Amino acid sequence: MRMQELSQGFVMGALSRDHETVDHLLAEVLRATLAAAPERAEVALRELLSQITRHMDFEERILFPVYESATLQEAGQGPTALLRSEHARIRTALGEMTRALGAGSLPALSRAACELEAILPGHNVREERVLHRVVDRVLGPLGALVLAARLMPRAEGNPPWLEGPVRPGP
Ligand SMILES: [Fe+2]
Ligand SMILES: [Fe+2]
Repeated sequence: MRMQELSQGFVMGALSRDHETVDHLLAEVLRATLAAAPERAEVALRELLSQITRHMDFEERILFPVYESATLQEAGQGPTALLRSEHARIRTALGEMTRALGAGSLPALSRAACELEAILPGHNVREERVLHRVVDRVLGPLGALVLAARLMPRAEGNPPWLEGPVRPGP
């Protein structure tokens, strides 16, 4: 564990690293379209879909509800409502990218990838500046560590202590 991650907090560290990975994969899709390399674009898009889907599922199932609970915010209101609506736009762009690749149209893939590229920076900054800090603070170091550990991809299932509900600390 790097000192920077410790100082940033476990949730911020793990989720911010995911954001960087997704940015790199999206850039690779765009590079592949510019290079007219459909096989390369497909490999990058497949990995992008896997990473970003896992990441958004985690946020919607665990991170957002923890934030809403900690701040007594109703689901459908506040920052998480905007973030959920941005996830819907991200999924739309991903669907367009998948369809474009399936149709063999690299220009259409590039256009849809640019749409995604326009959404992600603001979305990620909003999550990092608002949600991650609050969630790290309310869970405390151990709760945040458990939450961050749930993000780690693994070949086998989680141990039982990672599967239970995560609740804000006192
Ligand atoms: Fe998100
Ligand atoms: Fe995120």
